[in-house]
Amino acid sequence: MCGIIAYIGSKQAKPLLVEGLKRLEYRGYDSAGIAVLDGHLSVCRAVGRVAELEEKLERTPGFEGTLGIAHTRWATHGGVTEANCHPHRDDRSGIALIHNGIIENYAALRTYLEEKGHVFTSETDTEVLAMLVGELYEGDLERAVKGALREVTGAYAIAVICEHEPDTLVVARKGSPLLVGVGSGEYVVASDASAIIAHTSQAFPLDDYNVVKMTRSGFRTSTINDAPVTPKLMQLEMDLEQIELGGFSHFMQKEIYEQPRVLRTTLRGRIDHNEGQVVLGGLASFAKELVKARRFILTAQGTALHAAMIGEYLLEDLAKISAEVEYGSEFRYRNPIIEENTVVVAVSQSGETADTLCALREAKDRGAMALGVVNVVGSSIARETDAGVYLRVGPEIGVASTKAFTGQVTVLTMIALYMARRRFMAPDVCARCLRHLDEIPEKIEKTLETDYRVRKVAERYVERDNWLFLGRGYNYPTALEGALKLKEISYIHAEGMPAAEMKHGPIALIDSGMPAVFIANHGRQYDKVMSNIAEVRSRGGHVIAVATEGTRRSRRWPRRCCTSPSARSI
Ligand code: M6R
Repeated sequence: MCGIIAYIGSKQAKPLLVEGLKRLEYRGYDSAGIAVLDGHLSVCRAVGRVAELEEKLERTPGFEGTLGIAHTRWATHGGVTEANCHPHRDDRSGIALIHNGIIENYAALRTYLEEKGHVFTSETDTEVLAMLVGELYEGDLERAVKGALREVTGAYAIAVICEHEPDTLVVARKGSPLLVGVGSGEYVVASDASAIIAHTSQAFPLDDYNVVKMTRSGFRTSTINDAPVTPKLMQLEMDLEQIELGGFSHFMQKEIYEQPRVLRTTLRGRIDHNEGQVVLGGLASFAKELVKARRFILTAQGTALHAAMIGEYLLEDLAKISAEVEYGSEFRYRNPIIEENTVVVAVSQSGETADTLCALREAKDRGAMALGVVNVVGSSIARETDAGVYLRVGPEIGVASTKAFTGQVTVLTMIALYMARRRFMAPDVCARCLRHLDEIPEKIEKTLETDYRVRKVAERYVERDNWLFLGRGYNYPTALEGALKLKEISYIHAEGMPAAEMKHGPIALIDSGMPAVFIANHGRQYDKVMSNIAEVRSRGGHVIAVATEGTRRSRRWPRRCCTSPSARSI
């Protein structure tokens, strides 16, 4: 996941950009680079960590200017080599460019540019864009950038500078996030607010096809076709403390332990115990339409999709409303049928996931009402939905979603109860559900106290290469999420599935000692899960059960068992 940071102002750009790159490191990357304009373009690139780029910069003279761009790259087109690192330069006009996204028609453009005599030094789609800007440059950088962008298909967030225009920074976006931070006589542009917040809390996000030209005395925003745009300045809802480690070893650990606190924030002011109802200000203007809703389509990717699956069950279970979940990436390319009174809910931490955003647009175009369950305030999905509910879980620096998942499930529970109460649910029944919901942060606190037991289990099975995660009902999506986390964080193969599905083929994989994590808390399907546990054990698999505190061990119980405070079904 690439990162962009760019600066124009009166401060030295180099230290500011390097610090910005460090703030973006959490997104994952394999190389980094910087270009500073100090009379001429100084470019430095390095494979590996930002620290390696920093060391290289110390050994390289120059880089004294107050205008520059920098990038962390995650290789997509072309291997992890210095030649493929950004910034990329053109070969004629003194252009340097950084890019997040993918230029889909880069091969055809490259052939066209090679025929014009341009010589490429990398395998990347980004260099093609830099060359194209250079090819079109006739003394006006903004115009050349717009001309180039009219020729490309794909997604981009770019920042461009030119040796011949020492007072100009041009940035543009389509399908990849970019924020312009507005300071006093200076601008800090980044793909992520965490790289801006140390400098200013005033910013505006770019919409698709928007181009911003900045000089030290002002900026203007327009589309790639020259239509003027008035940007909406907003206050960044983030502080430095939120994006620092604060004593934890890594951000994922910090975010796991933040869950009780942030979920209290998610719930704050949204539960009315007296009236037995949920108060969701973000849905207020939409309440009448929502009551008429006959079908919900929840669309998302990855972890957010797993949370959406729980949302689907909740909407059916609590609000008795038809609901289904769709991968955004599948839904957007199908020919989906949207009947009258369909609500599409885009679930996304970042609010920027391209497939989720495009699925939302597809459903809107076909007449669906659009809701967002989003964490990042002012993100694309937040802007393009009719109404929505923010997660309020703070920035996700860890990349692997943890608190965002529990935040999404919490918000979807509130939406299901909101719908249920407006349709038929009695206040006292809703009040009881809300009491249980309100207890969740405390229960997470108690669960986190068992971390030493989880560590022991992990240590015991650390050498195993294949894991199963199994659950039924609400715990099936949770099992999928468990498997995703193990794959993503430990690079260990894991599969999640409904516990009953295991015997329809996957059971063949279970060999002696294979770890199978069962989510086996008390609930409607507890006995069924116990039968599935017996099946795994009979094949020699090792069962690791996540169970309700106080569950009495019986002969049927596995030896490894992590318990959590009573998770009563609502
Ligand atoms: O920002 P989003 O929630 O839309 O992101 C969707 C997925 O990429 C994301 O949930 C991903 O699966 C998790 N970060 C993995 O831990």
